[in-house]
Amino acid sequence: MASVNSAKQGAGRVPLIAGNWKMNLDHLQAIAFVQKLAWNLKDAGHNFADVEVAVFPPFTDLRAVQNLVAADKLPLIYGAQDLSAADSGAYTGEISGQFLSKLDCTYVIIGHSERRMMHAETDEVVAAKIAAALKHGLVPVICVGESAQDLEEFGPSAVPVAQLRKALEGVKSASDIVVAYEPVWAIGSGKAATPVEAENVCAALRAVLLEVLGADVAEKTRVLYGGSVKMTNIGGFMKQPNVDGALVGGASLDIDEFSGIIRYQKHAF
Ligand code: 13P
Repeated sequence: MASVNSAKQGAGRVPLIAGNWKMNLDHLQAIAFVQKLAWNLKDAGHNFADVEVAVFPPFTDLRAVQNLVAADKLPLIYGAQDLSAADSGAYTGEISGQFLSKLDCTYVIIGHSERRMMHAETDEVVAAKIAAALKHGLVPVICVGESAQDLEEFGPSAVPVAQLRKALEGVKSASDIVVAYEPVWAIGSGKAATPVEAENVCAALRAVLLEVLGADVAEKTRVLYGGSVKMTNIGGFMKQPNVDGALVGGASLDIDEFSGIIRYQKHAF
């Protein structure tokens, strides 16, 4: 294991464990949660330089998380779950990348399958949002993944590869992006992909990065797996050479479980 991790780190890819809270935890709950998570990891002696930890709270929590992280100098990174493709104007209910930058967000999730499905986000919208994120100095966490039907019709890689190609259209240069492979059938289902299935798609996505953005970016970009990740299965994913971390939904809302995922090196091998 050490060798796989050091190979990734040698390429500049610090493993990233990211918690997508989705529409859970209000800002008061967020404060308590982040505080406890930070204490828990500190008590366990977690080295954040070894495995980066990020949380993605709802928009309304971000100011509270910003204040807490700044006041207590917590080594946790945070980001938003979406942003608008526009900078400002008559877009009721939308949130600009400029606002997220002001909240010191590092990351922003773009193109999560729940937004693609429930908010009709097309690949074009995803591409425009990526451009907006980059413009405002945010690192986009670009989500791609096939549905169960896509899997049956086209196999595992075709849809995520096509989605990533479209997402990167118009991105001339981007030195800092994250890609997350989240098969729709694995999200919230308790039925994760196997480590080899995840590796194969993540490798195909890295090949797209190579083709579109060149060798340097392909080598240093973190490609995450997401979908029913837990403390008990994270180790298998992290052993794969092209899986650089996880985007965790349900299990990121349980401090012990999320800490266990973050500390995979301690118990999973
Ligand atoms: P689960 O971990 O709950 O399957 O969700 C994954 C996900 O959608 C993260 O963005």
